[in-house]
Amino acid sequence: MTNEFMQAFPADFVWGAATSSYQIEGAWNEDGKGENIWDRFCHSPYRVANGETGDVACDHYHRMDEDVDLMAWMGLKSYRFSISWARVLPNGIGQVNEAGLDFYDRLVDRLLEKGIQPNATLNHWDFPQALQEKGGWTNPQVTDWFTQYADVMFRKIGDRVTYWATHNEPKVVAIHGYFDGMFPPGHHSLREALLAVHHINVGHGKVVQLFREGNYPGQIGTVIDIHNFEPATDSEADRLASQRYMEFNKNLFLDPVLKGNYPAYLLAWLGDQVPQELQDGIDIAATPIDFLGVNYYFTFTTSYSPGGGILRAQTHLAHSAEGFGHNSMGWGIDPVGLYKVLKSLKDEYGNPRVMIAENGTPLNDIVEADGTINDIARMRYLREHILAVHDAMQEGADVHGYYVWSLMDNFEWASGYYPRFGLVHVDRNTLKRTPKRSACWYRRLIEQNALAL
Ligand code: NOJ
Repeated sequence: MTNEFMQAFPADFVWGAATSSYQIEGAWNEDGKGENIWDRFCHSPYRVANGETGDVACDHYHRMDEDVDLMAWMGLKSYRFSISWARVLPNGIGQVNEAGLDFYDRLVDRLLEKGIQPNATLNHWDFPQALQEKGGWTNPQVTDWFTQYADVMFRKIGDRVTYWATHNEPKVVAIHGYFDGMFPPGHHSLREALLAVHHINVGHGKVVQLFREGNYPGQIGTVIDIHNFEPATDSEADRLASQRYMEFNKNLFLDPVLKGNYPAYLLAWLGDQVPQELQDGIDIAATPIDFLGVNYYFTFTTSYSPGGGILRAQTHLAHSAEGFGHNSMGWGIDPVGLYKVLKSLKDEYGNPRVMIAENGTPLNDIVEADGTINDIARMRYLREHILAVHDAMQEGADVHGYYVWSLMDNFEWASGYYPRFGLVHVDRNTLKRTPKRSACWYRRLIEQNALAL
């Protein structure tokens, strides 16, 4: 029951939590799974903090039943997970690994048994190594490889999955993978990065078309990291630098899907460094989707800088004026930025149907002597961001769901295990799961379908 001190959400609002395959599954070489680019990267020296890997991760592959029970206890309406491409197609194409496919089949059934809607992402970065050796996302054939993989998944679980996403944060795949080399395959080439951008966008559209042809019952979209971008000052130089930075990190992915084109100012700025190929088939990327998944974490504050690389831009992660500070990864906390993102989708992109596919914060969680984890700062973080979503909805933003990142502490990519994002604590030695105080708080929020003020 709600009262005047509560912000109520629509009855069908989807409350969820998210994870991804490489970050939680482990079992990296079991039951016929093929190698993927994150296996290769983590097994190479000096790539990941403390030499950590996702070899075991949260061992979710073997503890799936227990994990779904936790979701049910929390009252989640939906669970967002991703599929490990190389677990179902060890070479990326060709021979299907039935054991891998069976894992996702069981996961979906188990979720439905507990009344939890499955939300499956096809590409959350763990791309098959065998296809990387053929050029990965820079090879134009990748759009067909991706479609073949999607076909295998649609045929197997497409009758039961409620929401599908083609990609998760494609910026990370293209820019961190091929331009700044922070993530696998660790390349440093603008040309390769832009080819990857294009194939990711076209691949997305082809998969959406395949989904439509199959008349599957669920909905399909994509998940893009849409942060808030602001110039450091009002000067023209800073404004333009901020625009370049935003177009490179956001519009290269969002505009093809929602508008069918690439950002003109950025393309003009990059000039003849832009491969001709970017003209081919861009309209396919704009095949209508059912929802846009939005991952929001921070605000980029950008200034003009002559030493700021090809974009002549330097950026930092600001926190909002209300004194939120930075989290344990140095990210500024800015809930107002989420409100602005949702407003801009409404005003500049025709108000697409949105699901917040990720939002959350890492903290240095402390396990008390009695075993409890009182992550009050996470509760405050989530509360402020959910309030920002509510505010935007009051002003007409078409938001239908919100997923906390993450269900449980997991492998935070090149940062290893130290950033703990979970609602559920995972002991790194025993892998024991313990719901944190934020999990109890979220459970209550879901139960009431309202946020106490
Ligand atoms: C975005 C990514 O999708 C997810 O894999 C990552 O762990 C979180 N953000 C936190 O960085």
